[in-house]
Parts: sequence; C-alpha cells; structure tokens
Amino acid sequence: MYAITGATGNTGSVIATRLLARGKKVRVIGRDARRLGDFARKGAEAVVADVTDAAALTNAFSGAQAVYAMIPPNIGAPDISAYQERVSDAMVAAITRAGVGHVALLSSVGADKPQKTGPVVGLHNFEQKLSSITGLNALYVRAGYFMQNTLAQIGVIQNFGLLGGPLRADLAVAMIAARDIGDWSAEELLRLNFSGKQARELLGQRDLTYKEVASVIGQAIDRPTLSYSQLPPALVKPALLQAGMSTNVADLILEMSEALNSGYMAPLEPRSAQNTTPTSFETFVAEEFVPRFKEKAAVS
Ligand SMILES: NC(=O)c1ccc[n+]([C@@H]2O[C@H](COP(=O)([O-])OP(=O)(O)OC[C@H]3O[C@@H](n4cnc5c(N)ncnc54)[C@H](OP(=O)(O)O)[C@@H]3O)[C@@H](O)[C@H]2O)c1
Repeated sequence: MYAITGATGNTGSVIATRLLARGKKVRVIGRDARRLGDFARKGAEAVVADVTDAAALTNAFSGAQAVYAMIPPNIGAPDISAYQERVSDAMVAAITRAGVGHVALLSSVGADKPQKTGPVVGLHNFEQKLSSITGLNALYVRAGYFMQNTLAQIGVIQNFGLLGGPLRADLAVAMIAARDIGDWSAEELLRLNFSGKQARELLGQRDLTYKEVASVIGQAIDRPTLSYSQLPPALVKPALLQAGMSTNVADLILEMSEALNSGYMAPLEPRSAQNTTPTSFETFVAEEFVPRFKEKAAVS
C-alpha cells in the first residue's frame, strides 16, 4: 500500500491516479474528505490528516510500504520556516513510528544548500532529517522551477500588458511541468528499487529564460510582442503581499530569486536523458495557461 500526501495537489494527484490505474492499493491524504472523494470512488482509502499532526500521519502511514512526502505550500504563514520544520518533524516521526521502508520526498533544485535559498532551506532540512533515519530508503526528488509558477503572470498580463518578476530576463531556468514530476515519481514508487539515501534532479524538457516564456505565451494568446521585465524587489514585494503572501514568505521568495539570479541556486547535474522530462513549455501553455488566461479574461 502506498500513502500519498498532498494527494489533491499538482504532483500528488498525478501519483495517486497513476498508482490506482496500475491496480495498487493507495491511501490518499489531505485535509478534506470531500476533496479526496474522487480517489475514494476509484478505490483509494481516503484519510484526513493535517501534515503537522504526527499522530494522524502515523495512522495514515501505518501499513504503507512507501510514502510520497511533501511540504504543502503555506503562503500566508507568518513564519514559513517554523511551519516547514513542524511539517518535516511530524512526517519524520510518523515515518519512523509506522516503520515505512521507502519514502519519495518532493524536494527542489537547490536543496543541497543549507541556507540563503528561501523556502528551499526547509526542503534541505527535511532531506537531512530523513537521512538520519537508519534503514530508511529515501529518494529526494529535486525538481526544477514549476511551469505552474508562470500562472501568476496571468493577472500581470491582463493588468499591465507585460510579464514582470524578480528573475533576470536572460536567466536560463530548468522549468518542469508538475505532471512530469508526478509521472516520474509514480514510476519510481512502482519500481521501488531505490535504496539508501539518493537525490535525483528533474529538470523538465529544457531550460527557458523569462524572455522566452513571454514569447511562447505571447504567441499562444495572440500578443506576439508580449515582453518580460525584471522588476526590483521593492516593486515585487507589494505584489506578492497583494497575492496573499505573508511578509516572511514574500521576503523568502525574494531571497530565493536572488539565489537563482546569482547562480548560487542551480542544478548540480548536467542535463541528460535521465533528468529531462517530456512536457514542453509550449504544451503546458496550450493545455493549462491559455485556458486559465481565457477563464480569467471572461470573469474580469
Ligand atoms: N513551485 C516550484 O517552483 C517548486 C519547485 C520545486 C519544489 N517545489 C515544492 O513543491 C511542493 C508543492 O507541491 P505541489 O505543487 O504538488 O503542491 P500543491 O499542489 O500545492 O498541493 C499541496 C496539497 O497539500 C494539501 N495540504 C495543504 N495543506 C495541508 C495540511 N496542512 N495538511 C494536509 N494536507 C495539506 C492540499 O490538499 P487539501 O487542500 O485537499 O488538503 C494540497 O492539494 C512544495 O514543497 C514546494 O516547495 C516547488
């Protein structure tokens, strides 16, 4: 049996769906039984557990041969690092008490660094905690920058007619579709042949700059001159707060952006067939960005 945290989310839902389709026993974990209902109808066992609740997670993980672990985003947290530590402590306690043998953790490029990478420090610390569990087989899935992050540009385009953000326009970023992380992780969970503690980077189909992101989106929404401007932190921060982030989360997102811009936070592996995944940014834009863009345009 597999226990999947974040089962209604971008990556967990793909994993749960794939494992169920292969006839595996799956326990889906989330905060709301109704949101887990689709999986329950497909034969999964739905368990309501908060990721900060070690006792509820122990119950959710008991009997699982493998767990998909993640720290759900919490953009309004007044102290995101404290929240991340609470989650990783609870998960580690539950993994240990339930005697789970294999864990795939959704981590990030840059999780090799102990500091100065914003919210990715919490993933570094989670990896370290799992590494201290004797006998556990753990796979740290160090994913690149989610293509989904570009969905935040929909409002910017609609309000200002351009894309804007803290990253350098010419910075080549390994961008990945969340579904590729889910598909890849599901296959690793099905094979279960990872042992000891291993980190694997997943870098998406190719590296893209935000200049190219603007060009691909511009073609797809029929605004071929759409451009991207790097904005100073003093302009980005109010926009992040406006989007619902706490001051602390906004500051750490800016710290992470600086780490990306300077090259401090970057993949360790050269691109290869092993860390390249199939979904192109063009496909993501056609299948996810454009429908969301049109939906938002229709209501505004
Ligand atoms: N964005 C990036 O570029 C990037 C890059 C690398 C790594 N990452 C990492 O990816 C992770 C996010 O992955 P994702 O996009 O798959 O997540 P996601 O789509 O936001 O899904 C998270 C799920 O967790 C559940 N959840 C939220 N709070 C919870 C709580 N307190 N207790 C139990 N469940 C809770 C939610 O389900 P319910 O609402 O049903 O409870 C939600 O569907 C983060 O750890 C992030 O650091 C992100």
